[in-house]
Order: sequence, then structure tokens, then C-alpha cells
Amino acid sequence: MARLVKVARLDELPPGAMKTYEVEGRPVLLANVEGSIHAMGAICTHEEWDLSEGSLEGDKVVCAGHGAVWDLTTGKAEFDEELQPNPVYRTVVKEGVIFVELE
Ligand code: FES
Repeated sequence: MARLVKVARLDELPPGAMKTYEVEGRPVLLANVEGSIHAMGAICTHEEWDLSEGSLEGDKVVCAGHGAVWDLTTGKAEFDEELQPNPVYRTVVKEGVIFVELE
């Protein structure tokens, strides 16, 4: 059953920021895109760079490793070769706290 897990305070993640958190053993990238919080698996499935080391461009993250472009809304990457998608999680912000929905 889906449940909400508390991950971070909203004030840790201003617009344009992203950061990797460990959420119940899984690395989850949180990104603030103009005030809306996105959550996606944090590890690039190419060679396992942490995506928080890359750059946030709109709702896309460019991997610092070799430039794969990840779409935070779909969990899919654009790259020379096909990459396994990353999971995308629903987020809820309540009273200044960011929650991620896990199955
Ligand atoms: S590790 Fe991300 S593009 Fe290679």
C-alpha cells in the first residue's frame, strides 16, 4: 500500500536546488523546479553517477558523468544508448515538510 515518507524540510531545497536523500534504503533525488518538488531515483543507470552532481535544467537533470539527460517527470533518459528508466515518486509538501510516496 502506498504511504508517505518524510524526507526533508522544504527550506533545505530552494527553487533550482536538488539533492540526494536516502529514503528507506533507496537513493532518491529531490529537485525543486520553480517551487514544485520532483522525486526520482538518484542514480544514473549508465555508470551509476549520483545525479545530484549534475545540473538541473528546467525539469531535466543532466548527468555529470557522460551527459545523459533525465526527465524528472517520466524517469526516462535521453542518451546515445538506451538506459534503464529510474523510478519517479509522487511528492507531497505539508507544513514545510517534503514527503515522498513509496509503495
Ligand atoms: S553515468 Fe550518467 S551518463 Fe554516464
